[in-house]
Amino acid sequence: MSNYHIKNLEEYFQIYRKSVRNPELFWEEIAEEHFVWRKRWNNILSWDFEKPEVKWFEGAQLNITENCIDRHLTKYSDKTAILFEPNSVDEPAQHITYKQLYAQVNKMSNVLKLQGVKKGDRVCIYLPMIPELAYAVLACARIGAIHSVVFAGFSSTALATRINDCDASVVITADGSYRGAKSIDLKSIVDEALNDCPGVKSVLVAERTGGKMNLVSDRDHLLAPLMKGASEECAIEVMDAEDPLFILYTSGSTGKPKGMVHSCAGYMVYTAYTFKNIFQYREDDVYWCTADIGWITGHSYILYGPLANGATTVMFEGVPSYPDYGRFWEVVEKHKITQFYTAPTAIRALAKEPLELVEKYDLSSLKVLGSVGEPINEEAWHWYNNNVGKKESPIVDTWWQTETGGIMISPIPYSTPTKPTFATLPFIGVQPALMDENGKEIKGNQVEGRLCIKFPWPSIARTIWGNHERYRETYFSAYKNMYFTGDGASRDAVGYYRITGRVDDVIIVSGHNLGTAPIEDAINEHQGVAESAIVGFPHDIKGNALFGYVILKEEANSRDQDELRIEINRLISEKIGPIAKLDKIVFVPGLPKTRSGKIMRRILRKIASNDVSNLGDVSTLLNPDVVEQIRKIVGV
Ligand code: PRX
Repeated sequence: MSNYHIKNLEEYFQIYRKSVRNPELFWEEIAEEHFVWRKRWNNILSWDFEKPEVKWFEGAQLNITENCIDRHLTKYSDKTAILFEPNSVDEPAQHITYKQLYAQVNKMSNVLKLQGVKKGDRVCIYLPMIPELAYAVLACARIGAIHSVVFAGFSSTALATRINDCDASVVITADGSYRGAKSIDLKSIVDEALNDCPGVKSVLVAERTGGKMNLVSDRDHLLAPLMKGASEECAIEVMDAEDPLFILYTSGSTGKPKGMVHSCAGYMVYTAYTFKNIFQYREDDVYWCTADIGWITGHSYILYGPLANGATTVMFEGVPSYPDYGRFWEVVEKHKITQFYTAPTAIRALAKEPLELVEKYDLSSLKVLGSVGEPINEEAWHWYNNNVGKKESPIVDTWWQTETGGIMISPIPYSTPTKPTFATLPFIGVQPALMDENGKEIKGNQVEGRLCIKFPWPSIARTIWGNHERYRETYFSAYKNMYFTGDGASRDAVGYYRITGRVDDVIIVSGHNLGTAPIEDAINEHQGVAESAIVGFPHDIKGNALFGYVILKEEANSRDQDELRIEINRLISEKIGPIAKLDKIVFVPGLPKTRSGKIMRRILRKIASNDVSNLGDVSTLLNPDVVEQIRKIVGV
């Protein structure tokens, strides 16, 4: 039996038991047998969730790109590493082999070095889904710079916040990006952001859309000529196991985004191992994850996990609706995709379109279907299973987070019997616990509680950049000696987990985490706004949509409300990005508050969801009358 590749349920249980009984021994075997190390570890694991501190493979030295690229050159030199599928159907796909990837990453590494980037420096990457994005990420990893990829749909303000938070000295961007029929001028967004980022010394610009752009002399450099002149050889920087590999920002329920820091060795081992098993990747498979590399899913399961296994991984620049809603299936047929990994929001959007758009393509190459980012509802699950998988490709509903680095709860396809809406069983080495509100673990089955993890796994985020106290407070203070996920979950009669959703003020809209506080802060900057509160409400396609309750200042009360709504959404787009725009905005005279001044969001959520049958006792509120007034305005 190989511990590396799980082939049936019995093996899963055996390996799981082993991984929990003696995690150190288990992960040591995996690390030893499947990766290239420059120096062996002295200590496999040390941890303390009180501090909190977690270290895996301490003393070891490595470089993740040696594992993702160099070591494959003997066997897979001409194998496609990255299959780039452009936005336009008229532009041919690019098959980038491992040998070519090696050359391009080395060139980019040399370009970065020429800009003065050294080990430990932060590089912000704000690029569309084009090959340069992959080269940039891997080049940073190769020279030991810490990459911070910012999703290229974020606004200039959001970009500036992220650049400044980690004090990035270099930004890698493009002139523009294609999104379906539209193109977006990325360079101007960067220019605007950089007005507030004095620490940025140089900007490297890839040319994609060919639009006009402004190049600031001494600061901005076109990437292509620099790449052309750079050498195809660049030695790896030898990294310590616990050196930071990257920062990736995620929304919190309060304040500014959290820069989650992942470190080299544990992240590599865990993403590679989960990838191999959860997607059952085999030698000639063509794997496609539709996420953007700006999110953790893209980091772990477009780049690092697949490349560490010598896989062929697809990078798709476009959107599911362009040129029509059959695009995903056209790509599956064209490249004979074997594993397809997407988000429930995409599935729901596609399920609304005529079935011919799926049926006209040959999807028989598919072996595994994945889902990630939010709970998948039963209807979407069945649509995916019936029409895409034709009931023959198991669906892996994978639960995890930016903070966990890799997949934590998921079926192993062809081993774990699937159950709609259930992420099923913990992955190898993962020890979940359900907790009650008094901090006690809820044992047994057919129970529901708050989802925690009891024991460290190799790819747990090590800190929040520049704010270890916030890291402790957010994840380790709610329950003693536990990592708290922020999610609720239930466990059924056989021990399968079902994620019920966030229990904090994070709302997942179309699979994107949005904290209520940053959106409220953005709204409150409007001159006419006195106060606001955001809640989520169910939405057919997005899963959740945002509902804003806004109190206007006296002087704005006479203004046209539709105009105000447009202005508020424009402000949110500018401060955060279009993904955070509100679906509904109502103007209210007050917000329901407790005597200590806390907004009772539970009541606002119920009103927004048109579910006012059980509002609970409102008499203890500071202002109970406001509930009736709000109900009248909303019309429920
Ligand atoms: O609430 C859970 C939800 O997404 C959150 C993590 O979001 P993010 O850090 O952006 O990472 C998304 C991609 C890994 C979780 O706390 N979530 C993620 N996957 C699932 C899910 N909820 C239910 N089922 C899932 N499969």
